Amino acid sequence: MSEHSTAENNVSLAFEGRAAMVTLRRPSRMNALSRATVLELGDIGRKLASNTEVRAIILTGEGDKAFCAGADLKERAGMSEPEVLEMLHLYRSELSWLDTPKVPVIAAINGVALGGGLELALMCDLRIAAAHAILGLPETSLGVIPGAGGTQRLPRIIGEARAKQLILLAERLTADQALEFGLVNRVIQAGADLLSETLAWIAPILEGAPLAQSGALTAIDAAFGTPLSEGFDVELGQYEACLKSEDRREALQAFAEKRKPVFYGR
Ligand code: COA
Repeated sequence: MSEHSTAENNVSLAFEGRAAMVTLRRPSRMNALSRATVLELGDIGRKLASNTEVRAIILTGEGDKAFCAGADLKERAGMSEPEVLEMLHLYRSELSWLDTPKVPVIAAINGVALGGGLELALMCDLRIAAAHAILGLPETSLGVIPGAGGTQRLPRIIGEARAKQLILLAERLTADQALEFGLVNRVIQAGADLLSETLAWIAPILEGAPLAQSGALTAIDAAFGTPLSEGFDVELGQYEACLKSEDRREALQAFAEKRKPVFYGR
């Protein structure tokens, strides 16, 4: 695995074949989101935006305790109100690349994902969790509300009733409960290696047709807040883009030749 760490080393970027692995690295603070960490995540997003080799991004946390325990509450305690508000804006400017459909982003939830930590996972397209992971949005128990998109993304993912339950009761779900809620796509067996399980699970993405995948993500995202007929238009537009691609011709040829297709994303 090739690796690159950012200046502050709160976040690392490494490559495993065609997967980029973005790892939060602040174990002493349960990988909490300090201002510097959010800025580093933004830098990594900008770096990855110009990388045409990467077919999927895996976001995870170092160790097995925490994916991310949310806002850095120790740093937050020393922040003025305008500084906290600036953080909310930074969440948008620095983290929005996670839910922009270029390549699929997968949250590999290796432990606690609370508050902003769960909101990070909600920005991702897919979520896979270790059996011991704990997930929740406890902000209302701290006198605030989720501020990194959680109130908007959670109901879109699990529905209004369950989102209100999680947020108002500040519930902390086990991985199995999160699976039942539809909050995660998959839970791996206790003792299994999360990253190898994740890589094996997303093999169809890593080997698949990138234009079709990003087109599908764009079309699926249009299903929210868009009238049905407009959604159909987005789908048609994305289908047309795939129709003109070399990858589509390659898939038909590979089928005829009874071999696996090789996709180049063009
Ligand atoms: N910000 C800053 N530091 C944090 C943190 C956070 N969000 N969450 C945990 N830490 C720190 C703890 O202060 C502790 O450091 P210390 O020993 O120097 O005080 C260290 O991480 C380990 O945490 P600890 O509570 O001892 O571990 P635990 O395994 O018993 O519990 C959590 C882990 C994450 C369940 C618990 O720390 C917790 O509930 N944290 C707050 C999470 C939260 O509410 N986040 C939402 C913010 S909106």
